Amino acid sequence: MPFPIERLRRLRRTPGLRRMVRETRLTLDGLIEPHFACPGEHVRRDVASMPGCAQMSVDVLVEECKRSFDLGIPSIILFGIPSAKDAVGSEGYARDGIVPRAIEAVKKGVPDLVVWADVCMCEYTDHGHCGVLKGEEVDNDATLPLLAKAALTYAQAGADGVAPSDMMDGRVTAIRETLDESGYQHIPIMSYAAKFASAFYGPFRDAAESTPQFGDRRAYQMDPPNAREALHEMELDLDEGADILMVKPALAYLDIIRQARDRFDVPIACYNVSGEFSMVKAAARNDWIDEDRIILEMLTAFHRAGADIILTYFARDAARLLRA
Ligand code: PBG
Repeated sequence: MPFPIERLRRLRRTPGLRRMVRETRLTLDGLIEPHFACPGEHVRRDVASMPGCAQMSVDVLVEECKRSFDLGIPSIILFGIPSAKDAVGSEGYARDGIVPRAIEAVKKGVPDLVVWADVCMCEYTDHGHCGVLKGEEVDNDATLPLLAKAALTYAQAGADGVAPSDMMDGRVTAIRETLDESGYQHIPIMSYAAKFASAFYGPFRDAAESTPQFGDRRAYQMDPPNAREALHEMELDLDEGADILMVKPALAYLDIIRQARDRFDVPIACYNVSGEFSMVKAAARNDWIDEDRIILEMLTAFHRAGADIILTYFARDAARLLRA
């Protein structure tokens, strides 16, 4: 029924009609807001390259989390800035480390907020790599027990779930086994399954103080041109027991999100990373784009591509915009 019988503009004519036929609806339900916990009290250190984001001491963080929860944001993910770093990232798995203390305080202050703990070593190692080193290389198998130990510590502190972001082979098995042996069978793993070696992580490394002191992460994070390999990574993590599969970054990887959604029947997450956030904030500050429309368009696109869950620094903005 081509033109003039069929006219697709008929259903675009009014806001009411457009609202009725909208295929994708953005809600706050799937949003996870990242936070950076740091030592001290009454500390709030703005991250220059990420307007609105800050490193916060635990007391300040709890108040922020209350505010987010009251705005309708259902979940956060925690990263830690330790008081001291060493070669094996020991504050990452110490029971009195910054993240376990933050988890405990947030769960006490805002019990119904879903708290995920990022599991990785790069914030805690003095060399800034995501695992322990053997010479100049990250030693995969020697890193696994330390990641598992960190995940267990976070579960013991009360995290609702753990999210390994290190890209070591076999980490989901290692974490699952350790959690299960210790009575934490009920704690889900959201795996950063397809995590690419991306230039979009730049601002995060300021925020988390996790820039590698030499080299880069290309020997463990994925090569950006590879889509089939991303699906292979996700399949392996699923087989190892991952409950949620994540694609990261999001904006330049919508094709991977879509393929993951079509292939796997578990929830798919995507991480709308720091560089994607900072680009929008910087352009908006110059009045080059309409920030609010861009935020909604991006977040809607992640859902349309197939993501159920979106980790995003825009969570607060989304709460404001969806209320309006
Ligand atoms: C650490 C980690 C990174 C991010 C999340 N977890 C950075 C990296 O791999 O260098 C990036 C998040 C962002 O850019 O917003 N393993």
